[in-house]
Amino acid sequence: MKQDAENRNIVWHPHQVTKEDRTKLNGHGGAILWFTGLSGSGKSTLANAVESVLFERRLHSFILDGDNIRHGLNKDLGFSPKDREENIRRIGEVAHLFAQAGLIAMTAFISPYKSDRDKVRALAAPKEFIEVYVKCNLETCEKRDTKGLYKKARAGQIPEFTGISAPYEEPEAPELVVHTDQESLEESAAKVIAYLESQGIVPKK
Ligand code: ADX
Repeated sequence: MKQDAENRNIVWHPHQVTKEDRTKLNGHGGAILWFTGLSGSGKSTLANAVESVLFERRLHSFILDGDNIRHGLNKDLGFSPKDREENIRRIGEVAHLFAQAGLIAMTAFISPYKSDRDKVRALAAPKEFIEVYVKCNLETCEKRDTKGLYKKARAGQIPEFTGISAPYEEPEAPELVVHTDQESLEESAAKVIAYLESQGIVPKK
């Protein structure tokens, strides 16, 4: 990577204001809460619930959401394995920048491939990448079918639909698992907040 940058005559500029300075100013650290799970598992809903709690506590966060990002930054990408890889790579870089800026970045992408998620993990500082498996059985996701996409996928109108005709690789060692088909939204959100507190990323209430 370094060699590659040298070949292209680009030099990394260190920042004068450090991560520690930002943590001191904000009263909390930066982090990436990486929510992964099937479409309809509740990633965005959960990220929003967590964000409401953080906001109330005057902690700084921002949500990057699959559907929204695909309207702008990643509107050139589809759902082939290659495009999904690029989707997650870009989001990983953006989330990493947000964490460096001192924010608690939350991402709500299916991110079905383990190797793509692991590459983002490798970008982040130790303990800064928190993989949250938003676990919900396919049957429940399909029953919810909030966007009507499972129905279309079953009818063969959406190719490569995760869980139906494209794979979802479950996280093997996520920092956290929430079971949205068994717990209430409040319970799942409380788990995430408790984890952030236990890691010293946000102060205990
Ligand atoms: S990811 O696989 O590349 O991480 P991402 O989270 O950005 O996916 O986008 C998933 C959302 O796009 C789904 O929640 C759904 O609304 C929509 N979508 C459209 N086509 C597909 C597809 N083939 N597979 C999964 N989701 C799809």
